[in-house]
Amino acid sequence: MAIEAPDIRTALPGKIARQVIAKDRRYTSSSYIKEYPFVIARGKGAVVEDVDGNRFLDFMAGIAVNATGHSHPRVVRAVKRQAERFFHMCASDFYYESFARLAERLTRMTPMEGEKSVFFTNSGAEAVETAIKLVRYHTKRPYIIAFLGSFHGRTMGALSLTASKAKQRSFFSSFLPGVHHIPYGYCYRCPYNLTYPKCGVHCAEALETVVCRNLMNPREIGAIFIEPVQGEGGYIVPPREFHAKLKAFAEKNGILYVVDEVQAGMGRTGKFLSVEHFGVEPDVVIMAKGLASGLPLGAVVAKKKYMTWKAGTHGSTFGGNPLACEASLETLALLEEGLTANAARMGKRLIGRIRKMAKEFPLIGDIRGLGLMIGVELVRDRETREPAVKEAHDVVQAAFERGLLILSCGESTVRFCPPLVVNAREVDTAAEIFGAVLRDITGRKG
Ligand SMILES: Cc1ncc(COP(=O)(O)O)c(C=O)c1O
Repeated sequence: MAIEAPDIRTALPGKIARQVIAKDRRYTSSSYIKEYPFVIARGKGAVVEDVDGNRFLDFMAGIAVNATGHSHPRVVRAVKRQAERFFHMCASDFYYESFARLAERLTRMTPMEGEKSVFFTNSGAEAVETAIKLVRYHTKRPYIIAFLGSFHGRTMGALSLTASKAKQRSFFSSFLPGVHHIPYGYCYRCPYNLTYPKCGVHCAEALETVVCRNLMNPREIGAIFIEPVQGEGGYIVPPREFHAKLKAFAEKNGILYVVDEVQAGMGRTGKFLSVEHFGVEPDVVIMAKGLASGLPLGAVVAKKKYMTWKAGTHGSTFGGNPLACEASLETLALLEEGLTANAARMGKRLIGRIRKMAKEFPLIGDIRGLGLMIGVELVRDRETREPAVKEAHDVVQAAFERGLLILSCGESTVRFCPPLVVNAREVDTAAEIFGAVLRDITGRKG
């Protein structure tokens, strides 16, 4: 497959894509969103081809998953080798070498002092469930703090922490008791209408000065569950002190600091974990998405002193499947050999290109991000900051028509989360298409 992209040869969706979509619509759950009519046939690196032979630049990576790009030859080889040997043996009850080796590697790569232990799952939500249970089991405390705007998954425990879009929770109550949501460090839309840094990062202090004065005893809080950089909520990078203050409060009160790195981790932000940008030490790390380059795998890494649960208290039939473990070992090697550094470099290039566009397009309200986790928040008016919801949707659709796959997040943010293998040419092409799309949407001449 040639890797030049974009190359759009048919009306979208093409003839074969339309057939697949018709069958999908007829037989699959109505809850699926389906952002645009893209029907993948194959992919290589950051380029994907649809079933009608159209080629696209993939700057969303199946929602921030394909860390090593599509079908990286080393990951493919590792998975094929494992498939020849065995597919499954349930590591909850038995042993295989890659399971232990991957656990060892993850304990080495996670930024906590001392000994650590790992539990493997099949997805992000399942890893969040695991962490919730672990915190309850270990601390015996009833409360959990989570954040408005956060996304932690769709299973009932994870959903109890999720507070991103009301529609994701509607008619699914009751949720886990004892979960309390507080505002995130979202400076562009400060929940307290303050301005950073004059605000003194009040949003972080409010946990102590408001929540723990009026609502709960901090000694009854088991954990703070936090995305170090908020993902689905809008690719929001909080101020450094936000984490520092929350972590200090947690430490003072014996509260575990649980970081959900499902979207921001695995090299995406230019460091293995996004929490490393903030200089705080987590107690528990939750991972999934990019961890195995697209094979289903999640992991919870905790300080050993907290992973105290007894044999049989938690387990999984498929978690840490051997194919996924092999894919993950190869993924982690590739991250360390250069992909994480590439994410930092390419992220800088992409955000630089987008920042230059801001002058031309008043629609751009805020540009933020770390590495290849970049959000561009669109507004109708820079003064009022009215979210440009329809425009964000239109940008994503128009980019698809021009052969660039991107997604939105938050209310009106366009996100860029390509595979970490993207090169400078692909970044520049994506930026050019984004500019052309903004021109289309705003009716400006190129
Ligand atoms: C930060 C975060 N946590 C958890 C999840 C849930 O992961 P999964 O969809 O694999 O269950 C997501 C998914 O988008 C996420 O972004």
